[in-house]
Amino acid sequence: MTERKLYVKSYGCQMNVYDSHRMADLLAPEGYVETGEPENADLIILNTCHIREKAAEKVYSELGRVRQLKEGAARAGRRVTVAVAGCVAQAEGEEIIRRAPVVDLVVGPQSYHRLPDLLARGQRQETGIVATEFPVEDKFGFLTLPSIAKTKSRGVTAFVTVQEGCDKFCTFCVVPYTRGAEVSRPVEAILVEVANLAASGVREVTLIGQNVNAYHGQDRDGRACTLGGLLRRIAEVPGIARLRYTTSHPRDVDDDLIAVHRDLPLLAPQLHLPLQSGSDRILAAMNRRHTRADYLRTIDRLRGARPDLALTSDFIVGFPGETEADFAATLRIVDEVGYSGAFSFKYSPRPGTPGATMGDQVAEEVKSERLARLQAAINRNAAAFNARCRGLTFDVLMEKPGRLPGQLTGRSPYLQPVQAMAPRELIGTMVPVVITDIGTNSLFGVLADAPRIEAESRIVQSLAALGA
Ligand code: 5AD
Ligand code: SF4
Repeated sequence: MTERKLYVKSYGCQMNVYDSHRMADLLAPEGYVETGEPENADLIILNTCHIREKAAEKVYSELGRVRQLKEGAARAGRRVTVAVAGCVAQAEGEEIIRRAPVVDLVVGPQSYHRLPDLLARGQRQETGIVATEFPVEDKFGFLTLPSIAKTKSRGVTAFVTVQEGCDKFCTFCVVPYTRGAEVSRPVEAILVEVANLAASGVREVTLIGQNVNAYHGQDRDGRACTLGGLLRRIAEVPGIARLRYTTSHPRDVDDDLIAVHRDLPLLAPQLHLPLQSGSDRILAAMNRRHTRADYLRTIDRLRGARPDLALTSDFIVGFPGETEADFAATLRIVDEVGYSGAFSFKYSPRPGTPGATMGDQVAEEVKSERLARLQAAINRNAAAFNARCRGLTFDVLMEKPGRLPGQLTGRSPYLQPVQAMAPRELIGTMVPVVITDIGTNSLFGVLADAPRIEAESRIVQSLAALGA
């Protein structure tokens, strides 16, 4: 089989990162080997995001660069195939090929398991192939598990999609249109995937889904399993040392999930629970189907179960009709919750969503000014959260070499990046680190058991030298 080079670029959310890996795994048996250099690629896949206008526009400017690469390769007698995958592909379909004729193939998030077949059609000189239907077959049933070597090269943490799509229809959001109706994967299929990851050295798994806590996949007996139940099952997989899940909807935090935060030591004390706005009026207009008080009550219950729980959120400023008083309510709740961090965005009207045609759209300057104030409040809270970590000892899962020689970087239980001087053999292990300094984006620390760990690492090194 001739070896061909594949370059995949992922935009947007973690599910796209997961999907990009699955596409590479699916194409490996076809002779495609991944490359980090688009200039050498025979197949370029842009796995796109449509959540905000800016995200979609990025794809078109990247396609301009890709066109130059493709034309350059053609002059040298080499054919490059260009595919657009992901949510822009789903939302815009043929329009992409009209606007960017460099694109050979458009494939939506529910059709990418058909890539080998679609590419074969491309090889037969068919052009302008568009696959954006929501096929009845289960995409996951067609996806291949990566080889152990492949997973190893991807590191000690991994995402696993357990749920996809959304039935909530928040009025600002394209996800229910691009990813489709909510679907949960069966428990056993997820357990096989996690066991495979654990066998290749993955220690931390983050379960992902657009609305992950709406998970209701079937267990072996055909009964629906909750996310709490799934987390309990995954915690039993040998080798898995830490679990996370994202993104959750406040409406779907049930008693069982709260109990799991109390009962499961493997579950990290950190939760991304997007609130979007602190104003009841705006929450209603967004169709979030809960109030500010409901959210605060849910957080109280979660913190009752796990007092050190770190919370993060997403916020949108300048949703249609948002007044200064509504925005002030958002600023207040940021301080009230004391988030360890949050993402914040200017409202971006998405074609086809109810928000786009609502009256009272907020002026761009007002959005920018509110975003700056909100980000200042978030940063203040994040800095206070980080400052409280000085002197504490955290279990850090070491992931990769750090910024400085001799340093490793990993994550604290609260998802903060932590840098510490440590031997390379500790990559993939959970080590206690005493936090000594607080940076803007990461914490710095020293190994709590430095003498013991150094001695162990010397033993590991000498065994390695002996070829053991
Ligand atoms: N405009 C701005 N932000 C949006 N998000 C989703 N849709 C939009 C939009 N139209 C944000 C929400 C969501 C996050 C993933 O992206 O805050 O939680
Ligand atoms: Fe979009 Fe709302 Fe569904 Fe989240 S819950 S994916 S914001 S529609």
